[in-house]
Amino acid sequence: MVSRDNPLWLQFWRDRKSNEFHQTSVNKYLVQFWPTLKIPYGSRIFVPLCGKSLDMLWLAEHGYQVIGVELSPIAVKAFFEENNLQPVKQRLDNFTLWSHGNISILCGDYFSLSQIQLGQIDTVYDRAALTALPEDIRILYVNHLRTIVSTTTNIFLLTTEDATDDNNRQQSHQIDEELISLYASNFEIRLAHSDILVEEHLCSPESSPLASTSKVYHLNSRTPRK
Ligand SMILES: C[S@@+](CC[C@H](N)C(=O)[O-])C[C@H]1O[C@@H](n2cnc3c(N)ncnc32)[C@H](O)[C@@H]1O
Repeated sequence: MVSRDNPLWLQFWRDRKSNEFHQTSVNKYLVQFWPTLKIPYGSRIFVPLCGKSLDMLWLAEHGYQVIGVELSPIAVKAFFEENNLQPVKQRLDNFTLWSHGNISILCGDYFSLSQIQLGQIDTVYDRAALTALPEDIRILYVNHLRTIVSTTTNIFLLTTEDATDDNNRQQSHQIDEELISLYASNFEIRLAHSDILVEEHLCSPESSPLASTSKVYHLNSRTPRK
């Protein structure tokens, strides 16, 4: 299966529009909440739809093995160049594997990634991966994840939702309903934190301020580890 958005993402990177989601510093919720998970150093962390996220660098610097998957070669090249890392490149079937030290990025389509290509994974770190996909494709993303990582693997998930209207704002301390429908049968979902960010400076005097809710979720697999 190929996501119908693939050509759009490839064009997005060609047009150098990544500043719409790329964070120029490490995600503050990763820094604050990851240590509470007490994931053993050396664990293999999967970062799906990784872009050129600096979070991969932070994870590697904190002793983890990082394996990302990203569609756009422009994003992967930029990640290594902008961080002054010289990667080794090798062909792996329909992917190109770029690696340097503890960081490897498989460049290709997430939906064609196999468990064998990915290797064993201890935890998944999802920031703006699930939510980057069209709503009808998200179930396919979740189902595919189940086929490429072990059923005992936990997920650390960061989301950002629009909270401009009152309805959304009232739900800012609740687990998102879509997440319940996608994950609750296989994971215990814990909302560890939520924050509303109001961007007053972006509005005109007559318009209401733009607001977004950032949420930090721990998805703990219901399948016990042996
Ligand atoms: C919203 S961005 C998030 C990137 C990153 N997680 C971050 O925090 O900056 C989504 C990324 O997913 C990539 N992407 C979209 N569809 C993909 C697919 N089917 N396979 C691999 N990567 C994909 C896009 O190229 C883009 O870099």
